[in-house]
Amino acid sequence: MCGIVGYIGHRQAYPVIIKGLKRLEYRGYDSSGVALIDEGKLKVYKKKGKVAELEDEVVDKNLSSHIGIGHTRWATHGEPSDRNAHPHVSNSGEFAMIHNGIIENYVPIKNDLLKKGYTFKSDTDTEVLLNFIEDIKKNNNSTLEEALRIALKRIVGAYCILLIDQNDPDTIIAARKGSPLVIGIGKGEHFLASDASPIIEYTKEVVYVNDYEIAIVKADELVLKNLGNEKQTPFITKLDMELAAIEKGGYDHFMLKEINEQPDTIFDCLRGRLIAHTGQINLSGIENNLDILINAQRIVMVACGTSWHAGLVAEYLFEELCRIPVEVEYASEFRYRNPIINKGDIIIAISQSGETADTLVALENAKEKGAFIFGVVNAVGSSIARLSNAGAYTHSGPEIGVASTKAFTGQLAVLSMIALKIAKAKGTITDGRYMELLKELEAIPEKVREILLDTTNIQRIAEKYKDATDFLFLGRGYNFPVALEGALKLKEVSYIHAEGYPAAEMKHGPIALVDENLPVVFVATKDRYYEKIVSNVQEIKARKGKVIAVATMSDTVIPTMADDTMFVPDADEVIAPLLSVVPLQLLSYYVGVAKGFDVDKPRNLAKSVTVE
Ligand code: AGP
Repeated sequence: MCGIVGYIGHRQAYPVIIKGLKRLEYRGYDSSGVALIDEGKLKVYKKKGKVAELEDEVVDKNLSSHIGIGHTRWATHGEPSDRNAHPHVSNSGEFAMIHNGIIENYVPIKNDLLKKGYTFKSDTDTEVLLNFIEDIKKNNNSTLEEALRIALKRIVGAYCILLIDQNDPDTIIAARKGSPLVIGIGKGEHFLASDASPIIEYTKEVVYVNDYEIAIVKADELVLKNLGNEKQTPFITKLDMELAAIEKGGYDHFMLKEINEQPDTIFDCLRGRLIAHTGQINLSGIENNLDILINAQRIVMVACGTSWHAGLVAEYLFEELCRIPVEVEYASEFRYRNPIINKGDIIIAISQSGETADTLVALENAKEKGAFIFGVVNAVGSSIARLSNAGAYTHSGPEIGVASTKAFTGQLAVLSMIALKIAKAKGTITDGRYMELLKELEAIPEKVREILLDTTNIQRIAEKYKDATDFLFLGRGYNFPVALEGALKLKEVSYIHAEGYPAAEMKHGPIALVDENLPVVFVATKDRYYEKIVSNVQEIKARKGKVIAVATMSDTVIPTMADDTMFVPDADEVIAPLLSVVPLQLLSYYVGVAKGFDVDKPRNLAKSVTVE
């Protein structure tokens, strides 16, 4: 997910663009850049880091121009760097382009362009698309717009692009498919952006460009066409949201936005990797190191917080599917314990930010002892990603809310694919079970969407229990780590003391806590422990505890026993954590909001703990 801004009109373009990029930094912030046209010449400035770094970069530059495009990046192809930052410039030096999205078939296109003598300064798919357009224009002797149209019909993937030509300083060409584009209509000026936040201070009249549309934008004219070159009527709407709400996509908080993004972010994580109908899992980081992985004597998951909970789920997954012993370590303990690392040990590092100090140092120590490190990271090009011998990104997009939600389910999706791929290669899973689990995993995005369709019941439960002073979260098997995650979410955003525990352990002491004031959340989706967890629910009810259950929609028993139930679609137990965590994310969010707290920035916390 990246931020895109364009301007053409009577104002100086740069101030509009740089201010707009700052408004879009929540969409990505690992590098940024701007392209302007002045006296028939392209001027491109770009820099790794936040938009403020770009501002420093251009402080003494002549930025005069009435046309420009700007970009703030969340890396997907090519790690964060000056050369991978957008805008990119074509080989001829005439065209500049910015892009939000993923071109899935860029490799064969790049190989063909290389054979034709094209050179590339970056590792990005964007630069490939730009030179593909240039090549088509040259070969067909066509206009830039026509060349773009032809190129867009041949690529596979998602895009929002802005394209400028130094020989035509009065026009910005834009196109979108799958990534958002809004055009603000001003008097003698137009604004283009990924959402309305860079636009709203100038105009409230906007056009939301549709998929497969191309916009030819001049200071005083906007023409929309489809890929068949047929003119479309722009539908002008009036913005009725305030700036703050727009940045959050219309949600009240980033946390709620990111919970609701999960159908799409899990889909993005699986896209191009999980091909369920052919039984393929494409993970180059695994394929290139398969021998090491299938001969691993032990896997050590190293992480903190929510990522540590993902490691606990992976322990069940890898031991059951791959039959490899797994240990899950808090990075903060692992780094000081002088752990034993043997040859044949694999360390899987799990981290959303890729910058968590405890995890980073734990990995550095382990690497010195000869460990092979596989990173499951969200932030492309982050320290942990670069330290790892290999890895797989979760592609969850920037996670702004301090309480991790979509990154957790992204981690589970990647870890599930890794476990399945290794199990298949090792022959520790039957073909039937393998194909069954691929189909289960493929169905997860829509099942998460089903949970999110109606959250009124969860809001009611949150309101009912928001004044409790303590919570217990209980689960068994794959749902035990989910119980821990639910407890952490509630602690983080509502400041209520909550504890996760294996349900069967209650009788060894903690059940003494139970009385009529204690809400006990059971993560109780249908699995091999189901009858046991029904008994555990009865134990709590017998002591007047209030039971809140996360149950499978087909369950007819637990909902009759629980005081309140949050339902999730049926799913195989090894995949179920991707579903059972979602009601717990929502419960913690609504309790925190009901208590009037800033759930995006809870007290005492930081998004990335880069200190000890
Ligand atoms: C989770 O909601 C917290 N924000 C925190 O526990 C977080 O998971 C932990 O600090 C690890 O961060 P990382 O995934 O970026 O390494």
